[in-house]
Amino acid sequence: MAKPIQIAIDGPAAAGKSTIAKIVAEKLGYIYIDTGAMYRAITLKAINQGIDLSSNEEAGALLLETAIDLQPSTNGQLVFLDRKNVTEEIRTQVVTQAVSQMSAHGLVRERMVELQQQLAEGRGVVMDGRDIGTHVLPNAPLKIFMSASVEERAARRFKENKTRGIETPLHELQAEIAKRDKMDSERDVAPLKKAEDAIFLDTTTLTIQEAASEILKLAEERLS
Ligand code: CDP
Ligand code: CDP
Repeated sequence: MAKPIQIAIDGPAAAGKSTIAKIVAEKLGYIYIDTGAMYRAITLKAINQGIDLSSNEEAGALLLETAIDLQPSTNGQLVFLDRKNVTEEIRTQVVTQAVSQMSAHGLVRERMVELQQQLAEGRGVVMDGRDIGTHVLPNAPLKIFMSASVEERAARRFKENKTRGIETPLHELQAEIAKRDKMDSERDVAPLKKAEDAIFLDTTTLTIQEAASEILKLAEERLS
C-alpha cells in the first residue's frame, strides 16, 4: 500500500472545505481535522469567560489552560472543549462573529499550529483551514486552495443554517462572510492566502461530489 500523504485544504468561509475534506478523508481512510473548529472552540471559551478578545496575551494564556479535542464521528467530527461536547455551540453567530478577532493573535496561532502538527504527525490526514498549506503542513504533497463566489458561499451557508434552525437573513450572512474573509486575509500573522504550490479549485459551479472527485484524482496521482 502507498505511504499515506497529507492533504491541505485552505480557502475562505463556506467554500465547501470541510464537507469535501470529510469525503476525501473517508475515501482514503485518513483522519480529517477541521482546524476552524479549534479556533471556534477557544473563541467560545473566551466569550463565556469574558476574556478581552483584543488582547494577544489574555487569549494566549487562556489557550494554555484549555483542552481542545477532536473525535471522529459518523457525521465528521465531534469537538470537545475542556471535555464538554461543543460541536453545535461553536457554530452559533456569536462565535462566528468573534472568531476572526481571536484567531488573529500570534500567541493563539502559535499554540494551535503546534497542536495541529501533533495531530497530523506521521499519518494520512486531510486538514482544512486558512493557513494549512502555508504554515501548518508546508510540506504537504497535495495542497488545495478552494473558493467560490461570495454569493454562492452565502447561499450555501444560508441553506445549511436553516437545517440547524438558524435564521440569519441572506444579506447579513453575505456581509458577515465578506467581513470575516477580509479580516482573515489581512491579519499580520499567517493570513489566509493560497500557498504558491497549491492548486486552485473554484467550486462555484461544482457539486460536492465533483469537487471531491477532483481532489481524489489529484491524491491518487501523488500516491502512485
Ligand atoms: O466553516 P467556516 O468557513 O465558516 O469557518 P471555519 O473554518 O470554522 O473557521 C472559522 C474561523 O477560524 C475563520 O474565519 C478564521 O478566522 C479562523 N481560522 C484560522 O484563522 N485558521 C485556520 N486554520 C482555521 C480557521
Ligand atoms: O468548510 P467551509 O466553510 O469551507 O464550507 P462547508 O461548511 O463545507 O460548506 C458550506 C455549505 O456548502 C455546506 O452546507 C455544504 O454542503 C455546501 N456545499 C455545496 O452545496 N456545494 C459544494 N460544492 C460545496 C459545499
